Amino acid sequence: MTARKPSFLLAVSAMALTLAASAVLAHGDVVPQAVDTSTLKPLGSEWLTKNPYLGDKEAIRIGDSAFNQNCARCHGLGAVSGGIAPDLRYLPAGQEGDEIFMQRIRKGATRDGRVYMPPFEGILSQEAMWTIRAWLETVRED
Ligand code: HEC
Repeated sequence: MTARKPSFLLAVSAMALTLAASAVLAHGDVVPQAVDTSTLKPLGSEWLTKNPYLGDKEAIRIGDSAFNQNCARCHGLGAVSGGIAPDLRYLPAGQEGDEIFMQRIRKGATRDGRVYMPPFEGILSQEAMWTIRAWLETVRED
């Protein structure tokens, strides 16, 4: 039995390390998450004013997860408002909503020096932003 002790201790400390590592990872949701858009048509460097991925199934799939990783902590899971930020299901449809959406996601919202929403320009690609918009159109309410 005593011969087994060191490996038991080793196993316990390995487990403690794993737990510590996952505790660190658990805070990862406050860091913007990379969004893989390699399966979509690239959009180039000009900012578009109209969603090029509207109705695109693959973009919608990517946008759903990109939203939950980057936006849901303030705008609610599934875009149902968590209470501290506007309910994005009520953005206008089509290009009118596209423009409000792009302005806000790129620049964020700061008032009186307080950051209400961080800017995502330089953090998420234009492609990633439009996938989120494409997904939002699928959960829209009037
Ligand atoms: C830290 C919290 C936070 C995060 C994260 C966040 N937002 Fe926001 N968002 C806000 C708040 C607060 C407002 C309202 C700002 C204001 O009143 O000026 C807002 C406003 C908006 C608006 C304008 C809504 C309207 O009705 O005019 C859009 C669009 C938007 N956010 C999209 C997003 C998207 C997309 C993401 C993820 C990429 C995101 N937000 C991440 C807090 C956040």
